[in-house]
Amino acid sequence: MSKPVFRTKLCDMLGIDYPIMLAAMAPDVSDPRLVAAVSEAGGIGVLACADKSPDEMRDLVKEVKKLTGKPFGIDVGLPIKAKNFTTDYRRALELANLPADHVAFRDGFMADNNIPYDDDTSHATPGMSSIAAYKLSYELGQQQVRAVLDLKPTVFVSALGDPSFMVKDAHAAGIRVMSVIGKTKDAIRVGNGGVDAVIATGTAAGGHSGAVDGTVLVPAVSEAVAPTPVVAGGGVTNGRSLAGMLALGAIGAWVGSRFIASEECSVPDWYKDKLVGATDTSTVRNRWFTGKTTRHIGSEWDRQCDASGLEALPMPEQGILVTPMTIGAAQAGRYEDSGIYCGQGAARITEVLPAATIIKEMIESATEILSRELPTRVSFG
Ligand SMILES: Cc1cc2nc3c(=O)[nH]c(=O)nc-3n(C[C@H](O)[C@H](O)[C@H](O)COP(=O)(O)O)c2cc1C
Repeated sequence: MSKPVFRTKLCDMLGIDYPIMLAAMAPDVSDPRLVAAVSEAGGIGVLACADKSPDEMRDLVKEVKKLTGKPFGIDVGLPIKAKNFTTDYRRALELANLPADHVAFRDGFMADNNIPYDDDTSHATPGMSSIAAYKLSYELGQQQVRAVLDLKPTVFVSALGDPSFMVKDAHAAGIRVMSVIGKTKDAIRVGNGGVDAVIATGTAAGGHSGAVDGTVLVPAVSEAVAPTPVVAGGGVTNGRSLAGMLALGAIGAWVGSRFIASEECSVPDWYKDKLVGATDTSTVRNRWFTGKTTRHIGSEWDRQCDASGLEALPMPEQGILVTPMTIGAAQAGRYEDSGIYCGQGAARITEVLPAATIIKEMIESATEILSRELPTRVSFG
């Protein structure tokens, strides 16, 4: 696109050409390469730092800046009221004191399905989110916020928490603040806290997702937090879903799964293939991978957990429980059991494309729908 096709308030707020944000996806899916690709193409990449130490965050930001001079964001998961576990897996396991019946169930599942136990988290592939989930803690979130204030990205996004406590400091540092929510009550809380925009993700969203459908959530939140604007996430994979979100009241879209199936995304090819092959009933939403509800491709692990009579442990204990199973499952070629996080919108993804092509097609198609197609289907008077 030689010139911007249409703009929204999000473009002005962040200094970008198109109202498309790369949703943060940890671990290492929204990495410097993908972030830079989206920012270079006129959207804004948001670096996934939920599982990163302040030093790691600094290194990642350096890498982004080598690849692009355009605006980018940083996302961390705060302030989780989880206990302060260490980010070292074996130490986290000692501290967690996992219940014996859950451990026995997991071990039985692994033995029955020839899944090796591997607790070396350096063997994990990008996107293996139980690995990120067990690291989240209130304490880590506070350290990450201090790093963000220092690193001064264009926008800071908080996942799974309320950033109200840092909005004033962020604004003083010239950083915009956004918060991801899945229900209206939480949107009102963060809206009252002074965020610059609320990111409302409906139940179609991949990864941690709520129960409320986007067609209900996005207009409800738009009204509830007005004049604070809303960015909509969950199921946006093309121009039609982007146009739909604008009609529901959003000023732009928070897009995750579509960018997993991009050339610049560093997840293994089998992960991208599963998204391209997904139908609208391929994903499920439950607590079996992290202890909080996540949407992912349905797996044998899900089915057997459902039938087990066990309750999922809270976050981070459930993530600690499944981590060695998910790493081993990928090695055994049991990819679904490794936790393939993606949204229902995967059903609408048919090929892996460069990030710039995804953005170009999304904007051109949304422009066509908004300016030419809709007027042929709607008449007045
Ligand atoms: C693999 C994966 C990892 C994710 N990790 C994070 C994360 O670290 N922080 C966050 O705010 N949201 C995370 N999410 C949720 C996304 O940011 C976003 O809300 C979701 O992908 C939007 O729905 P969509 O996948 O239908 O586009 C993750 C989603 C996926 C698929």
